[in-house]
Amino acid sequence: MTQNKKLLSWVDDMARMCQPSSIYWCNGSETEYDKMAELLVKNGTFQKLNGKLRPNSYYAKSDPTDVARVEDRTYICSKNREDAGPNNNWHDPAEMKANLTKLFTGSMKGRTMYVIPFSMGPLGSNISHIGIQLTDSPYVVCNMKIMTRMGTEVFKILGDGDFVPCLHSVGYPLADGKADVPWPCNSTKYIVHFPEERSIWSFGSGYGGNALLGKKCFALRIASAMGKEEGWLAEHMLIVGVTSPEGVKKYFAAAFPSASGKTNLAMLTSALPGWKIECVGDDIAWMKFGADGRLYAVNPEAGFFGVAPGTSMHTNKNALLTCKENSIFTNVGLTPDGDVWWEGLTEEKPKKLTDWQGKDWTPESPNPASHPNARFTTPAKQCPVIDPDWENPKGVPISAFIFGGRRAKTVPLVFETFNWQHGVFVGSAVASETTAAAAGAVGQVRRDPFAMLPFCGYNMADYFNHWLRIGKKSSPDKLPKFFNTNWFRKDNNGKFIWPGYGDNVRVLKWIFERVDGKDNFTDSPLGRIPKNGSMDFDGMNITEDVIKELFHIEKEDGIKEADGILEFYNQFGDRLPTELKTELQSMKDRFNKM
Ligand code: GTP
Ligand code: SPV
Ligand code: MN
Repeated sequence: MTQNKKLLSWVDDMARMCQPSSIYWCNGSETEYDKMAELLVKNGTFQKLNGKLRPNSYYAKSDPTDVARVEDRTYICSKNREDAGPNNNWHDPAEMKANLTKLFTGSMKGRTMYVIPFSMGPLGSNISHIGIQLTDSPYVVCNMKIMTRMGTEVFKILGDGDFVPCLHSVGYPLADGKADVPWPCNSTKYIVHFPEERSIWSFGSGYGGNALLGKKCFALRIASAMGKEEGWLAEHMLIVGVTSPEGVKKYFAAAFPSASGKTNLAMLTSALPGWKIECVGDDIAWMKFGADGRLYAVNPEAGFFGVAPGTSMHTNKNALLTCKENSIFTNVGLTPDGDVWWEGLTEEKPKKLTDWQGKDWTPESPNPASHPNARFTTPAKQCPVIDPDWENPKGVPISAFIFGGRRAKTVPLVFETFNWQHGVFVGSAVASETTAAAAGAVGQVRRDPFAMLPFCGYNMADYFNHWLRIGKKSSPDKLPKFFNTNWFRKDNNGKFIWPGYGDNVRVLKWIFERVDGKDNFTDSPLGRIPKNGSMDFDGMNITEDVIKELFHIEKEDGIKEADGILEFYNQFGDRLPTELKTELQSMKDRFNKM
């Protein structure tokens, strides 16, 4: 299968430490997937869904303590603490290795260790990279099969070359005849990255970004550190193709924090006739310069691991159509006829369900049937609006970057930045209310620069500098323009004032026209906002008052915002690029003059 020396000796070493009862090299075939799923059904992890309603699909309930990424257990172990920065938990790499070695020793007893070869990005693209994950979780194998290009082909491309070693154990050994449980995990969790040696060790969790190591651990934390060294970008961004009624197509990449609308925007159903939206990716973008000086993006993933609650034929039809078969559903509700349900899927709630913890549920039950971070795992190629170029090894050329967050007040529906440097400043200052995608409190405003706070594998001050440098590598007419959006503005009763979803295409249209250089803006202290009448609200039931409120900018809010940004910046000390402080001062000046 492979003669790669580093790979063979690493698998040997890890097996000696973890002590599995057997080793299985995954080939990535459908037959293998089916067998693995069968095994999971036998173990009680999977339940097969009704084949008539949801062909070839499975249902899983996690342990109630293992439902989201654990940011406080996530570490960047660079040699120097300063290189991890105040944005990361840090530990000395040698000490951490010693500590983890204790935890991993014997951690796979009584289990099979699976070897998963996978490519992040289209097989053989020069933007792609190879990883090998070792795991004792067949649930992870099935999810990796959907989320990555996995299988024997990868060994051919790997040859004698390098790969990112990703070690994973749920930390639930079956020593001395100990019985298994449907969702094995450990109350001690460690999600650890060694950026200098480009490796990942993850212990104790079987869920999402903690366990599917190609995703946040590799494609963002390790890849961002690689990109800094090698001059490219690994970003928490969706990639979307937008075609105008005239047939002109542009691609945008948008960074919104976890559970804040990337999957939705990536495949939205346009509320404007004639505007077509196609999806390249819904979570991660890897970008490199092409020979023409433009930035080209690929989606390193092959599937969507999307938030289920709130997904409906009304909000995100294309996501629902994608997961109509060949999918895995985790922590949603289960209907009596063997299909899935979650909050928001249908207006009328089913009369009877089994909830995500296996308990009987009725509409009168005090708790939701699905966990707020319940997710579907589904193949991207099944998306009805997947972009024809989504697997193009060259990537797609990006014309605009869009930032966004959940902000009840202060931030308008959309604005454009004055230039690249101001764009990096706006990205660095993104703030958002926290969501259920990470363990911890929900709804608290925190700074989440570029939606990368939990995912940047090195000091964020250096990350800002990396972005500033990228902007000097090409000419302004070839580089993407920067925008900021906010779908989540609320009135005083806490109700969203913007309908969002399909209507967000109106904002995309305005951005499209700005990229074309249309004179459709007016200056504000934050940046360029739509000139009166330049945004297309046609066919919408919206009042002038609401439109005014969507773009309302308050002097006091702006000055308070600037103070918040300064406080955030201060933790980076001298390492923060001076350009950002200059931009902050200019913003403050603009508000003071208001
Ligand atoms: P991750 O997969 O965690 O990175 O999340 P994401 O950014 O892809 O978020 P997603 O599109 O799954 O949306 C998360 C939640 O936000 C869902 O419950 C959506 O229904 C809701 N949402 C998405 N877009 C909008 C919008 O335009 N307006 C409002 N009000 N809610 C939205
Ligand atoms: C996110 O939290 O941004 C996700 C889900 O996309 S996870 O894969 O769990 O990181
Ligand atoms: Mn995400």
